[in-house]
Amino acid sequence: MIVLKTGRELKIMREACRISAGALQTAGMAVEPGVTTAEINKLAEDYIRSQGGEPNFLNYEGYPATACISINNEVIHGIPSKQRKLKAGDIVSIDLGAKFEGYHGDNAATFACGDISDEAKRLMDTTKESLYEGIAAAVSGGRIGDIGNAVQRYVEARGYSVVRQFVGHGVGTHLHEAPEVPNFGTAGRGIRLLPGMTLAIEPMVNAGLPDVKVMPDGWTVKTKDGSLSAHFEHTVVITSDGPKIMTLL
Ligand code: MF3
Ligand code: CO
Repeated sequence: MIVLKTGRELKIMREACRISAGALQTAGMAVEPGVTTAEINKLAEDYIRSQGGEPNFLNYEGYPATACISINNEVIHGIPSKQRKLKAGDIVSIDLGAKFEGYHGDNAATFACGDISDEAKRLMDTTKESLYEGIAAAVSGGRIGDIGNAVQRYVEARGYSVVRQFVGHGVGTHLHEAPEVPNFGTAGRGIRLLPGMTLAIEPMVNAGLPDVKVMPDGWTVKTKDGSLSAHFEHTVVITSDGPKIMTLL
């Protein structure tokens, strides 16, 4: 069931999204050589709690942290660790969200650690731009396939690939709600987009092939071919006046 949110609900959810965006910014600013992913996770958690929110990934299906921090060929769901130190040249995908008064926000971005290669920069830029292409396609009266098609066309035109095994999602009183929001597909197909729908649009883009594998820790997802991967995500609401990004400060 797809829940269309009322104005009252959107007001609360916007607060959850604002906290999520602040936590992501806080985490991203801490990315530098020598910092551990556990330290970044703690900064994000402390920020969310300082704003009256709760980390919504923590304990979700047993997930053990506030943030997912995925480095280089890790696509998503990297578990923060005291043993994992960032080094110059890494690209660091941070995904996190906050719950506030019963509503969820969800966002992600990939950050550069020190100086990175031109190829890594181009992958990050393309992934971020593909998110904005997807958001622009999230218009009332359109279809869910319009979003994925916009993302996929943008990414593949630049020689990269879109992950298929993981997708975006509705978000609201649950972190994951209907509908699924694939980052690939056919324009004009799928459920109709309506005002009040709140979607987490989150392209995961690989420099090489789209295939991924889950590591023995049960969470960390890596590219099968070892290529770099980037991830950007916003929570967006569809309105009669176009898509609005909710995960902004
Ligand atoms: N960030 C994921 C998403 O965007 C959810 C993470 S699952 C968790 O949908 F268990 F790691 F929290
Ligand atoms: Co999400």
